[in-house]
Amino acid sequence: MFKSEKFIEETIKKIRQDIKGRTLIAFSGGVDSTVCASLVNKAIGDNLIAVNVDTGYMRKNEPESIKKLMEHMKLNYRFIDASDMFFESLKGVFDPEEKRKIIGENFIRIFENVAKDEKIEYLVQGTIAPDWIESGDDFRDTIKSHHNVGGLPEDMNLKLIEPLRDLYKDEVRKVARSLKLIVSEKQPFPGPGLAIRILGEATRERTQIVREACDIVEKEIENAAKNNNMELPWQYFAVLLPTKSVGVQGDKRAYGFVIAIRAVQSIDAMTCVFSKIPSDIIEKISNKITNNLGNKINRVVYDITNKPPGTVEWE
Ligand code: XMP
Repeated sequence: MFKSEKFIEETIKKIRQDIKGRTLIAFSGGVDSTVCASLVNKAIGDNLIAVNVDTGYMRKNEPESIKKLMEHMKLNYRFIDASDMFFESLKGVFDPEEKRKIIGENFIRIFENVAKDEKIEYLVQGTIAPDWIESGDDFRDTIKSHHNVGGLPEDMNLKLIEPLRDLYKDEVRKVARSLKLIVSEKQPFPGPGLAIRILGEATRERTQIVREACDIVEKEIENAAKNNNMELPWQYFAVLLPTKSVGVQGDKRAYGFVIAIRAVQSIDAMTCVFSKIPSDIIEKISNKITNNLGNKINRVVYDITNKPPGTVEWE
C-alpha cells in the first residue's frame, strides 16, 4: 500500500539534497503541480518561485482562481499572460502531436526567460507516471506526447526535477490529502489546456466556444452530482469537433459545429470507462450548449468510448 506520509518525508529530504539553488516550478493549479509546489516549498522555502502561465487555453475564470490559490499557499509567485504568444504559435497547426510539441516548447522558453532574469537553475515539474509512460521511450510507443515530457526541447538549459515521477494519480491525491491541499479532489486538466479539446486549429474564436461548452458541462454535472442524481465522474468536459452539420433553428437552416461531451470514470488515467450519465442530464447539457452557443453549435453528441481503445482526451 502507498504510504503518503512516508513519501512526503522522504521526498522533502531528497529535494533538499538535489536542489542547490533558486528553483522555478511550472504551476498550473492542478493536483500534481500543487502537490509538487507544496513539497518543494516545504523543502526550500522562498527559493522556490511558482510560475503560472496563462496560455489563453484556460477554462472560464481559471487564471483568477489559480492566482488566489498561489496566494493562499503563500507561494512566491509570478503570473505571466502569454496568450498572444500561444495563439500566434498555433496558427495553422492542425496535427495534435505538433500542437503538443509547440505548447511544450512555448512553456519552456517562458520558463527559461524567467530563469535568466531571476538566476534560476532548476525547473520542477509535476510529471506523474502516466505522463512519461504515454509519451513513449525506447521500449514503448508514443500514445501522446504529454507537453511536460515529449514536448521538452532537447536544448533546454534548466536542470529538471520531477518529485512525483513514479506516482499514479490516485497516489498523488493521497499525498494531497495528507498535505491538506484544497485541490486534492479537483478533476485533472491537461497542460496544453483547451487547445487539445479543439480538434484541428485552436483559434481564439474556437477556444471561446469550447470554453463556454466546458463550463456548461462542468456546472451541470457538478450540480447533478451534488443533488445525488448521478455519481461525479473522474473527469468531464466538452470537445469541439471540426465537423459541421445541418440543423434547424427557429424555422431557419443552421450549419454549425459539433460538441462532444466526454465524462469518464478512472483510477489512474491509464484506463477509463465512459460515465453512464442519466439521459435527462445529458439532454439538459445539450439544450444549454445549443441555446448558449446558438449559431455556432447545433449538434451535441456523447462519447461512449472506453480507454482503450480511446483515450480520455480526444487529442
Ligand atoms: P489521455 O487523454 O492520455 O489522458 O487518456 C490521461 C490523463 O492525462 C491528462 N492529459 C494530460 N495532462 N499534459 C497533462 O498534464 C498533457 O499533455 C496531457 N494529455 C492528457 C488527461 O486530461 C487525462 O486526465
